Formats: sequence, structure tokens, C-alpha cells
Amino acid sequence: MSFVYVEDVAKHAGETITLKGWVYNKRVTKKLAFLQFRDGTGIIQCVAFGPDQPELYQQIDALNQESSIEVTGEVKEDKRSVIGFEIGLTGLKVVADVREEYPITPKEHGTAFLLDHRHLWLRSKKPFAVMRIRDTIIRAIHDFFGERGFVHLDAPIFTPNACEGTSTLFGTKYFDTEAYLSQSGQLYMEAGAAAFGKVYDFGPTFRAEKSKTRRHLTEFWMIEPEVAYMDLEGDMELAEDMLSFIVQRVLEKRRPELEILERDVSKLEAIQAPFPRLHYDDAIRKLQELGREIQMDDDFGAEDEAILSNLYDRPLIVHHYPTAVKAFYMKKDAENPARCLSMDILAPEGVGEIVGGSQREDDYDVLLESIRKHGLDEKDFDWYLDLRKYGSFPHSGFGLGLERTIGWICGEHHIRACVPFPRTMERLAP
Ligand code: 4AD
Ligand code: MG
Repeated sequence: MSFVYVEDVAKHAGETITLKGWVYNKRVTKKLAFLQFRDGTGIIQCVAFGPDQPELYQQIDALNQESSIEVTGEVKEDKRSVIGFEIGLTGLKVVADVREEYPITPKEHGTAFLLDHRHLWLRSKKPFAVMRIRDTIIRAIHDFFGERGFVHLDAPIFTPNACEGTSTLFGTKYFDTEAYLSQSGQLYMEAGAAAFGKVYDFGPTFRAEKSKTRRHLTEFWMIEPEVAYMDLEGDMELAEDMLSFIVQRVLEKRRPELEILERDVSKLEAIQAPFPRLHYDDAIRKLQELGREIQMDDDFGAEDEAILSNLYDRPLIVHHYPTAVKAFYMKKDAENPARCLSMDILAPEGVGEIVGGSQREDDYDVLLESIRKHGLDEKDFDWYLDLRKYGSFPHSGFGLGLERTIGWICGEHHIRACVPFPRTMERLAP
């Protein structure tokens, strides 16, 4: 027997159809029984009229939340509904009743309780909207790079070396030796850029972040393009084009989900390249003018980023950070070696950093010296140094944090809501 998905009901106006899914909610008045039915693609209201349909009316009244059911009925236009239709019920079958009362009731629950029940919480309206937007963002990213001729290259997860500093490495036993879970695929993408010109990696990355903040996960997804013969300027342009593309795609495909999240879409409609740019030195002066106690050469704190990003209606690109606060592989500014060819993109509305990128050091000797200076073991970077030995080339890339980007676009304050099963310092389950 065939059935229809809620997201497709508009194509069946006036027809009698069958839907398969679960009881989201119900409400019974003297004459009418209303069922909120969900099937993973949307929620639709089904109605039975008591005086004419006493059996159906009784059946709805007896339903338990999250029982699995099949419903049959006529697709009727309904101007008040978000999806524009409702179902005039003619049949209802319980596929499986719940064994116990469903723990997530329509009343308010605390965040810890909801996170403990994340495997069930995913069925609720808000996670539903966020995860469908996440899906659209992921597809948009693949489309963006695909249309531009990038090769999608996967970096390994087990790695012998640190990319983003040794303090956040997750070690794991690897037969007779130790391996680390990847913090970033970047170094491998640099090998890829020499082999394919334009590449990007889309993979899980791991950091033993001991900070309990709204923007840190221990397992998150990162998108890392790397392009041969692209300089810092090109890197900034690529990143702003990508972000504009993603936001436009979400606006095009996911209006109902943004509505569920009560997202102010006018804020998203403003996201068009080019983005404002600020040299790090000017950003510090601006913060000082605003009364922040920050000194030249300091790194920004979350609060500084929030203040800066709040000054603009679109993402802010800060470039030329101090060499001393950034990673070993970033190329120094030839005119001022205390600054490097780096950029971060700070999302507006106080969100802060969502992208980190740079032009890479392409000089063998300078890179080797930097590896030593950062206290890294040069033996681990043999293969990486080879890239500067055999046909070195100027190149740049960046990393986009997927969950932080979703958080910004969805207006979700905490990024643990932006991944299906969040992993943080305090959470390894479900
Ligand atoms: O700025 P990061 O550390 O840059 C890199 O890893 C570079 N190797 C990227 C590159 O140039 N290919 O991280 C990049 C982005 C950040 O801007 C942030 O959005 C996200 O990754 N990120 C995190 N997201 C969630 N939880 C964490 N603990 C994160 N750490 C970084
Ligand atoms: Mg960064």
C-alpha cells in the first residue's frame, strides 16, 4: 500500500490519502477531536467530527503521545495551518502503542533532562527544524565547492601529529603506538592542493576542550577548503562567497523551519558579500575606544568577538592577527613579521568566530623554524615539510565550523543544539 509524506500533501489536495507516522499531540473538544500527526517530514492536523464519527472521535481521545499510527483521510485546504492543509479523517490504525508514557510531554522540560533524552528529543519541533536546516547547509556546502570544481578529499581521523596545538589533543591507543584524533584536516588538504589544485575536506574533528562554553564541542564538523596559488585576499573572498551562498540556500529552502525557530529572517536576508573587513590593529583600537581593557597583541576573548561582531549587520572579517597567537603554519606578513596572513570571520548578532583561515608558510626554512619554536616534534612533520621541498607554492585555506554556522543561521544560542548527538566535556551519551 502506498502512502504520502506530510511534506507532499499539497500535491494531493482534495484526494483521500494515507499517512504513516506518530502521534505528536491531541486535543478533544465537545464535538471535535484534533490529532497533531508527525511523520518526520512535517506535522499536520487531522480532524474527526464527533457527532458523525463517534468511533474515530473515541480513537483519537484514547491515543497516547508518540504511538505509531496510520491515518487515512481527505486533504482539505486550511488557511490557518502553516502548511495550508489539514486531514479530514476517515480511518485511523494504531501500529504500535507506547509501552510507557512518553517522557517528553508538551510541558516545559529542563535542558539537562532533554539532553539525556536526546534520542527522543530529536522528534520535537525545534530539533526537527534545526536538523533539517543542518541538512540543507551541508548540501549547500557540497554544491558550492562542487560548482567551483573543487575535489572533495577526505582527511584521516587517526593522525600522528597536532595541527592546532598540543593542549586539546585526544590520544588513543593505536596497536603498539599512540595516535591522535584529528583536530583539523588542513595539513592533509595542503598535500591535496598540490595534487588537485582545489580541494576541500568535510569531516568530524576532535578537541579535548575543557571549556564549558556555548560554542565548544569536543566533536564537531569542519569544512576545510585549500587552494593552490590563492593568497589571503582570495581566501577571504572564497569564504564570504561560501557564507552568502549557504545563507541564501537556507532562505530559499527552509522558510517553514526558520519560522518554527522564530528566526528574524531580515537578519539573514542582509547576508550578502562583500563583508566588512578590519585589520587586527584597527579592531584592537576599536575595542579600546569602546572601553574594553585589551592591549595590542592580545588575542580576543569571546566577549571581544561578540562586541566586534555586533557592530555590523553581516559577518566581519578580521585579518592580520599577531603571529604569536596563531598556529605554526601561518605565513608571516613580509612587511611586519609580528603579524601573519590570517583571518577569522566573526558572525553577527554576537555569535563570534565561525571561520579561521590563513595563507600558509611556503618557505621550507621558515616553516621548520616555526615548528621548532612551537615545541612540536619535527619528525612528525616530515611529510608536511616535503610539500615545501618538492615544488612549494603559495596557498591558502580556511576551516568553517559547521555547528557554529548552524547556530548563527538558526539563532540557536548554544551549539549543542546544532548537532544530532552532542559531545562535550560532560556528555558522552546518548
Ligand atoms: O580556527 P580553527 O582552530 O582553525 C583550524 O582548525 C584550521 N586548521 C582551519 C584551516 O585553516 N583549515 O577552527 C576552525 C573553526 C573555528 O572557526 C570554529 O568555527 C570551529 O572550527 N571550531 C569549533 N567548533 C565547535 N567546537 C569547538 N571546540 C571548535 N573549535 C573550533
Ligand atoms: Mg580559530
